[in-house]
Amino acid sequence: MEVSENIREIADLWLDGAPLSQSDLRAAKSLAARLGTFEGVRPFSAVVQSLLEHVSRPDFDLKQVCNVIELDPALASRILRIANSAAYRAMGPCASVGQAVVRIGASNVSGLAMAMSAMALFRDLGGVGRRIRDHSAGTAVVARELAMSLGCVSLAPKAFLAGLLHDIGKLLIIQTGDQAYADLAAREMVPSSVHLKELSMFGFDHAMLGAHVLRSWQIPEPIPQLIAWHHQTKNERSCAPPMAKVLDLLRLADVVDWLLGQGCPADSPWVARLAAGPDGVRAGLSVETLPSLWGALRSIREEALHVFG
Ligand SMILES: [Fe+2]
Ligand SMILES: [Fe+2]
Repeated sequence: MEVSENIREIADLWLDGAPLSQSDLRAAKSLAARLGTFEGVRPFSAVVQSLLEHVSRPDFDLKQVCNVIELDPALASRILRIANSAAYRAMGPCASVGQAVVRIGASNVSGLAMAMSAMALFRDLGGVGRRIRDHSAGTAVVARELAMSLGCVSLAPKAFLAGLLHDIGKLLIIQTGDQAYADLAAREMVPSSVHLKELSMFGFDHAMLGAHVLRSWQIPEPIPQLIAWHHQTKNERSCAPPMAKVLDLLRLADVVDWLLGQGCPADSPWVARLAAGPDGVRAGLSVETLPSLWGALRSIREEALHVFG
């Protein structure tokens, strides 16, 4: 692809086709330069690629899907742990990969396998990398639980995947060995602040970077687009329902995970403020419902840190 086309594609991802201002163009150019660092990074094992191929066929065979998963014992055991986790446990214990695939859904399993495969790239990053991976797992299960509790069951798998991958851009930047950035990310875990500092440091933020790299890995839409927008309120208006709802859930879960990580209690004014804020109102939360869900969100999050850790 020509460099100019690449910049245009990146800018479209970020700006949703809005006219390019000089600063936006500069940001797109600086991102294009930075992306060279990530050339050649391919997250998916042969097993995950084969799983994606099988599940993409309309007449896929469940037995074959299970056989593919069982080729990777680590993947098989993780899928079993998820099927037996608090998020799915209400349906009783699950003893085989076949039962787990039926319970979670074959296409959701392939999405999970993709996301876990991508996150495994960053397994060696200690310290702040570990905290970001924990935050990603927590955001994923909180986003899923909020979707289920607010009557958006069909959106739960996308909310989960978007949560798991939403801050992958931070991990990608840390992976380049940029110590100043690692220090910043360690200091600033508040969801609403880091991206603004990234814009002044690099000319782009982790949301835009993550979305672009996920697209280059062929992670299907709308996940990359949701991730591109997860800190950009200005684009929410152009995001069509039901994906606007997933974006609301993702943005809420991002903050809920942070508050839970701080040990924030259900009756904190921060919880009430989040429920009454624009994302909370659009998602259908109230100042009563979020505190009532707080205990369940806390225990689901704690378990996720073990399942995905
Ligand atoms: Fe983020
Ligand atoms: Fe986040």
